[in-house]
Amino acid sequence: MQRVALLVAVLTAVSVLHGVPQPALASRRAANQFPDDFYFGASTAAYQTEGAWDADGKGVSIWDHMLHSQPNLTADGQNGDVAADSYHRFRDDVQALVGLNANVYRFSLSWPRILPTGDTDNVNQAGIDHYNDVIDELLANGIQPMVTLYHWDLPQELQKLGGWPNIVIADYFVEYARIAFENFGDRVKLWLTLNEPDIFSLGYSTAAAFAPGANSSGIADYLMARTILLAHARVYRLYDEQFREAQQGRVGITLECNWYEPLTNSTEDADASERQLQFQLGMYAQPIFSSSGDFPEVVKQRVAANSEAEGRTRSRLPALSQEEIDYVKGTADFFGLNHYSTSLITSGLQGSIPSKEYDTAVVTSPIEGYPTGEGMTDVPWGLRKLLRWVHGQYPDYQIFITENGFADPPGVLNDTGRIHYHTGYLSAVLRAINEDEIPVIGYSAWALIDTLEWMDGYTKKFGLYAVDFDDPERPRTAKASVSVLGQIYQSKEVPLQDFEDADTTPPLL
Ligand code: NOJ
Repeated sequence: MQRVALLVAVLTAVSVLHGVPQPALASRRAANQFPDDFYFGASTAAYQTEGAWDADGKGVSIWDHMLHSQPNLTADGQNGDVAADSYHRFRDDVQALVGLNANVYRFSLSWPRILPTGDTDNVNQAGIDHYNDVIDELLANGIQPMVTLYHWDLPQELQKLGGWPNIVIADYFVEYARIAFENFGDRVKLWLTLNEPDIFSLGYSTAAAFAPGANSSGIADYLMARTILLAHARVYRLYDEQFREAQQGRVGITLECNWYEPLTNSTEDADASERQLQFQLGMYAQPIFSSSGDFPEVVKQRVAANSEAEGRTRSRLPALSQEEIDYVKGTADFFGLNHYSTSLITSGLQGSIPSKEYDTAVVTSPIEGYPTGEGMTDVPWGLRKLLRWVHGQYPDYQIFITENGFADPPGVLNDTGRIHYHTGYLSAVLRAINEDEIPVIGYSAWALIDTLEWMDGYTKKFGLYAVDFDDPERPRTAKASVSVLGQIYQSKEVPLQDFEDADTTPPLL
């Protein structure tokens, strides 16, 4: 007992060395420095980069199918058949990551490359071999793989069953995930089940915005939410029960949200902002990450009221049973967050009836006075506000920023807009960690290389590295942002002047 008291006295004496109390470790770090164990990386997704759409036994995905049958849907009539050819050139991608000083790479597995029909009747060993090669190459270069199981390329055979609105898809997803854990889980320690369900639900609400173009607005896009939540939760629990002990990894999900700044300081506009956040992010986040579980109250109420006004006998939003609510709640080890931009928001009715847009009842407008890229505004404090909102709603979870990025038109190698964007947003993340005490554990820029940007084809470039899509060799060329971001990733700090200059303080504090 006495010895303990002595030790405490010595430690106290050390910590008030020279009469100056020594702050705790976190706050001893300079304001522009990231924690030592922070993940810095870059992201991609299979359909956007791999190409090799029918190589070595790969099956057809809903994106292959849609863009083959309706080639004019994309802005330039192009598709992902070859893309950046990362299937064959993944070693170049790994070298690109090395050049960036990344310690993590977020990429997705193509479900139909592993299971061409979506089911386990046909397991494509060539697909498994390919991802083993990618994972091994990453690890040999000191880069951790972070694997997204589903980044929108559903096997077309499963779309024949109706795709995600059909609850049976959860069964197929669990079996696919099991194969991924069995084959790759010895080396992959960071998993994401699904990427941005709110965005890929557009494929079920509209005819021509996203695959599969199912055109069932305000109905299928809500129905699929229940499948998604149960599919995610079942995969999490599968990992927890059968793989975690041996593999020691972590499983999350990636949800996306911009920040919506109220147009004025009226309560109505504050409510509009909150409503949008709940319809977009809360719809998937609350059931998984909140202590209450279930869909947000405002979403349940509004969809039910509109459904009734339309003469329906039940809500277009499927109800989760108490058993399902309890089953889904708490099924994540961290919160994957994608964030790009900020806009202004007010209340107002728009969209067709029925639609999620009409149910949400908000109108957004661009925020003026900030630098802009292709379709986005560079507002770093928006990310800081979003992080505060997410942490306030779901305080128990660490946050991994799985995407954040800036788009240029083609041909920009001296990408000063992107440099400004990433420097500012990384500074906002630093303020969130060091000042707001929000546990952000990683930042992965979108995208490592130029990709097929879905319906925009190759007309918008998010890459840190340019890809020459006219050259069969698809060479990668570092843009100016690589050396700036690479320096930050290596030193784990944003240069002090850039940090101080960044617009990270929300205006309405
Ligand atoms: C989110 C998506 O996950 C990704 O696929 C897309 O390319 C980027 N945002 C940019 O729009």
